[in-house]
Amino acid sequence: MEPVIRLEDVHKAFGRRRILQGLSFAVEQGKTYVIMGGSGSGKSVTLKHIIGLLKPDEGRVLVKGQEVPSLNREGLLALRRKMGFLFQSGALINWMSVYDNVALPLRENTRLTETEIRERVMECIRLVELERAADQFPDQISGGMKKRAGLARTLVGEPEIVLYDEPNAGLDPIMSETINRLILDVQERFKVTSVVVTHKRACAYTVGDIIAIFDSGRIVAEGSPDEMRSSDHPLVRRFLGGIMD
Ligand SMILES: Nc1ncnc2c1ncn2[C@@H]1O[C@H](COP(=O)(O)OP(=O)(O)OP(=O)(O)O)[C@@H](O)[C@H]1O
Ligand SMILES: [Mg+2]
Repeated sequence: MEPVIRLEDVHKAFGRRRILQGLSFAVEQGKTYVIMGGSGSGKSVTLKHIIGLLKPDEGRVLVKGQEVPSLNREGLLALRRKMGFLFQSGALINWMSVYDNVALPLRENTRLTETEIRERVMECIRLVELERAADQFPDQISGGMKKRAGLARTLVGEPEIVLYDEPNAGLDPIMSETINRLILDVQERFKVTSVVVTHKRACAYTVGDIIAIFDSGRIVAEGSPDEMRSSDHPLVRRFLGGIMD
């Protein structure tokens, strides 16, 4: 079967700074592909190519068999409705309650009634255990709660593909583990195909079917968690060796 996401020899530069340099990888249906790599190396840029926020200078970006860079506006919007993106910043809207933030994609992209919306929003809010914060505003809740609210908003549209950018950055170990478990839950319950960018070993090992190391604009090593555990590639050891965090 054709992979759900496939990048082929992608190159991208900003001015003279070459960020992606022959990036290729594929994510199979229902699998979670973890990307680890240095700060500022181009991981978020990679995710932005998959949702079509950035276009490659060279190479191909295919999602569900469609060439993302050549989609027109309607095609891109249709594809994005099948994708959820958990932004690195969380990106909640500050003047809206948690409930309204989560409801936003349904109000904008569907013709569901408010009653139907309420049912789906509350289901996602329960999934991330934020029932008691539904009426609060982003500046009244903790960082971990913001991440979970962002996750609820990402999932409310029932995406087939979910992209997570540092889902547990800045969280304490317990909240971090909660998020890892949620990512795993979502994969099992909804059979989504995911890409997870993280620098946390525990996250990579918990959620990854394949773990990949990104360096100098491309994937330099990838394999199952077991293969990565026993790899002696120096960059694999640097990102995945040592103590769990
Ligand atoms: N739209 C843009 N225009 C110009 N430069 C950009 C743009 N987006 C990203 N960059 C640059 O590309 C490089 C890679 O950025 P990116 O955000 O992908 O890093 P990252 O691997 O996600 O890092 P981190 O782990 O810190 O999140 C950075 O140097 C960044 O400044
Ligand atoms: Mg980033």
